[in-house]
Amino acid sequence: MADSPTSISDKWWHSAAVYQVYPRSFFDGNGDSLGDLVGVQSKLPYLKKLGIDAIWLSPFYPSPQHDSGYDVADPRDVDSIYGTLSDAQSLIDASHELDIKVMVDLVPNHVSIDHPWFQAALASPPGSKERARFHFLDAGEQPPNNWVSMFGGPAWTQITEANGELGQCYLHVFDSSQPDLNWTNPDVAADWIDTLKFWLDRGVDGFRVDVAHGLAKDMTYADLPDPVGLTEALRFDLDDGSTEAAERRLLIENSGFFDRDELQEIYREWRKVLDSYPGDRMAVSEAWVPAHRAGRYVSPTSLHQIFGFDFLVVAWSASVMQETIKKAIAAVQAVGAPPTWALSNHDSPRVVTRLGGGETGLARARALAMVAHALPGSIYVYQGEELGLPDAPLADSDREDPVFFRTNGAQKGRDGARVPLPWTASSAPYGFTESESATWLPQPDHWSQLSVEAEDFDAASTLNLYRASLDQREQFRGEVRFIDSGDSEVMIFARDNGIHMAVNTGLEAYSLPEFLLEAEIMLDSEVVKILGDKTEVLPPNCARWFRVFT
Ligand code: GLC
Repeated sequence: MADSPTSISDKWWHSAAVYQVYPRSFFDGNGDSLGDLVGVQSKLPYLKKLGIDAIWLSPFYPSPQHDSGYDVADPRDVDSIYGTLSDAQSLIDASHELDIKVMVDLVPNHVSIDHPWFQAALASPPGSKERARFHFLDAGEQPPNNWVSMFGGPAWTQITEANGELGQCYLHVFDSSQPDLNWTNPDVAADWIDTLKFWLDRGVDGFRVDVAHGLAKDMTYADLPDPVGLTEALRFDLDDGSTEAAERRLLIENSGFFDRDELQEIYREWRKVLDSYPGDRMAVSEAWVPAHRAGRYVSPTSLHQIFGFDFLVVAWSASVMQETIKKAIAAVQAVGAPPTWALSNHDSPRVVTRLGGGETGLARARALAMVAHALPGSIYVYQGEELGLPDAPLADSDREDPVFFRTNGAQKGRDGARVPLPWTASSAPYGFTESESATWLPQPDHWSQLSVEAEDFDAASTLNLYRASLDQREQFRGEVRFIDSGDSEVMIFARDNGIHMAVNTGLEAYSLPEFLLEAEIMLDSEVVKILGDKTEVLPPNCARWFRVFT
C-alpha cells in the first residue's frame, strides 16, 4: 500500500508517540543534582508504562552549557555531567530491549565556542582554512550586516586577533557562544556525515535536527529589509490571508539565513546515509517555517518528518483549531508525509500555563492532548507534560537562558519549562535527586500533588489520562472528517470505525447531538470523574472520545 498520512504504515515513526527527554531535568541517577543518562535508563519502565514508542534525547554532548547543551563542543561524545559513551550505549540497548526507539538531537547549524574547530579558527589568521569553516567577515565600525540573533542583539561578534587588535566578526544566529558553521565548506558537510554514522552505528533509530531550516546562508551576506520582523514572522502561521501575513511571507522568502533552497542538497546526502542503514532510521526537522513551506523538509530525498508546531501556539478556539488542523495535514499530505503534533517542548511555555494556568489551563491542556492524540501522524510529548506541570515561577536571579540575558530581561526566556521533574510526593527536590545541593533551577513548593508518585495513584490524574489516551490512540485509523457541530466553539471530527472526538472551547456546556448520545464514551478529559448527567452535554474545556455504533 502506498504510504499516506492515514494508511496503516509499518514505519514506526508514522504514528509514534515520542517522549522528549531533557536530560538535565529528567532524573538524577548519580546523586550530583543534575539529570543524566543513567537516570533516564532507570526510568525506562515508567516511560514504557506511559505508552510511548520512542524517546528523543535533547543534547547530552560535551558542552560548556551556555545554551543548556545546544552549544556542542563534540557531537560524538557524552558530557561527563551526563555520563559516558558507554552509558549512552547502555541506554540505547536497554530502550531497544523494551521496544522503545531512540532519537538523538543533532545541532548542525552551529557549534560551541569550545569546539576545537572554533578554537583553531580563533588561533588562525583571517582568510585561513580554519576560519573558512565559519562565517568570519571583516568588520568596520559596524557589524558586517544588519542580521539579528534569534536570541536578541546583533548576529555578529567581533574577536580579538592574535596581535591583540580587534579583528573579524563571526556570525551567530543564536548566542555568541554558538558560532554558525559554513555549510558551503566541504569539511563541515563531511564531518556531519561522520556524526550521523557515529550514532547510527550505535543503533539510534532517528535524529531530531536542530534549526534544520538554518544551515544554508546567503553567502553575499546582504542586509535584510526587516531583520527583526523576520525573526518574529517565523513564529507565526502565515496563511490567514491577511495583508500582514503576505508581508511576513515575503520576509521569510527573502531571508538570508532560514529556509533557503541550498538546504535540499545537504539533506539529500543525509538521506542517502540514513537509507543505507537497516531498519527505519529517520530524521525530524525542527524547522520554524510556515505551513506552505513545510513540505520542503519531507520527501524521499530529504528528511522524514517536520515538527508541527501549530499546537504550541493555537488559540483556545474550536474554529481556529479546526482550520489549523486542516492546514497542517494538507501541508504534509501534499508530499505524502504524515503530520506531527506537539503541545509543548523545551523552548515554549508549558501548555497548562499557555492556556491560562490554574485549573482552567490544566483542563484545557488535557483536552488539547486528547485532540492531538486523536489525530493521524505522530505526537511529541515533552517531559512533564504528562503530569500537567505548569511553568515554574522563577526569580530573575535563578534564570540561565541566554534569551533572558541577550534581551536584558525583556524576554524571560525558557527556563520556566525546564525545571527538574517531581517524582515523589514529598517536598523539593521531590525525588529528582538524592543530592542535598540545590537543583539547577528551583522547583516550586507546591508540586507534590503533581509528582509521578501522587499521580500514579490518582485515577483522574493527568498521568493516567495520558496513559489511557496513548493506549487507545493506537486504535485510531483513517482520515479526519470534520462534522458540523452547529457551534463555533465545538469541534467534532471522526476517524474510522465510528471513532469520534469532540472538544468544547466555549464557556457554555454543549448539548451533544443525538448520534453521540447513543455512542460509547471511550475517554473523557475529565476521565473518571462521575459523568452523571454530564453525558448529555460536553462541559467547557473538555474533550471526549466516542465510539459510534452504526
Ligand atoms: C533550537 C533548540 C533551542 C536552542 C536553539 C539553538 O531551537 O530547540 O533550545 O536554543 O535551537 O540551538
